Amino acid sequence: MNVLSLNMKAPVTKCLFPAAGLGTRFLPATKETPKEMLPLVDRPIIAYGVEEAVASGCADVIIITGRTKRSMEDYFDRSWELEAMLRQRGKDDLLAIVRNVSEGKKIVFARQPEPLGLGHAVNCGEPFCRNDFFGVILPDDVMIGEPPVLSQLIAVHDRLGGSVIALEEVSQQDTSRYGIVAAESVGEGVYRIHDLVEKPGPQNAPSRLAIMGRYILSPSIFPMIEQVQPGAGGEIQLTDAIRLLSDREPVWGVVYSGTRLDCGTQSGWLYANVRMAMKDPVLRKVIENAIS
Ligand code: UTP
Repeated sequence: MNVLSLNMKAPVTKCLFPAAGLGTRFLPATKETPKEMLPLVDRPIIAYGVEEAVASGCADVIIITGRTKRSMEDYFDRSWELEAMLRQRGKDDLLAIVRNVSEGKKIVFARQPEPLGLGHAVNCGEPFCRNDFFGVILPDDVMIGEPPVLSQLIAVHDRLGGSVIALEEVSQQDTSRYGIVAAESVGEGVYRIHDLVEKPGPQNAPSRLAIMGRYILSPSIFPMIEQVQPGAGGEIQLTDAIRLLSDREPVWGVVYSGTRLDCGTQSGWLYANVRMAMKDPVLRKVIENAIS
């Protein structure tokens, strides 16, 4: 791709899901089962992100997987035997639910041979995304938003062009848990990003605006990732590559509207399950009975 010919406002139709991490904060559950396949009420965690991408206009889905992650491929594949059995037994409602998992989207998988960090995982999707702006969803951050959170980022891209990052204001003591941006407001919750710092302590944080699991990225990110030096544990940070990108192309941040459910830890996952289940009158009763 010729960077000079890059259209800064190209339509976003692809979304990449880095899902090759080790999930160490959720061991031993994630020893053989991908974190992304743990259930959130009635479906795997990653299904929420894929639904968000499709609802945002990104029916081309690229999932980055690794060892022990094959169940994700099976989940999104057609299940002919199951469908035939459900049809034969007249279980049309279940048949529709099963068909819906694979219908209306085109899903491809790419392997990350070693979990060398989020930046490295994104780079594994380069053959599919090298010519277009594309979305990135971190599947363990489930976002409940209306309109869908990825579409809120796409709206900013459509208006201003360039890359866009989801931001959330966090408390001063929590800055050390996230990537934090230095940014100037351009109005309506949108910021022009000038710098990004990975997990700064409260004293060094340039703001309280934290980067949260949703991005629209320029294909120019790929040569930037190649330039990033590995940090602690040999990991290549996406934040470092976006910092290099922000020197060359516009990178915007938008304070999204919606609820983030961090399913990457046992406590976060449990909270997310209870929170989602409480929306369903039948499951709500189950929880009320359990705690009474
Ligand atoms: P996380 O840091 O939340 O996931 O990365 P992790 O590394 O799997 O979990 P812990 O920290 O060991 O508990 C955010 C997303 O990036 C993916 C993860 O799968 C997750 O969806 N990721 C992370 C990769 O795909 N490859 C990596 O090398 C690192």
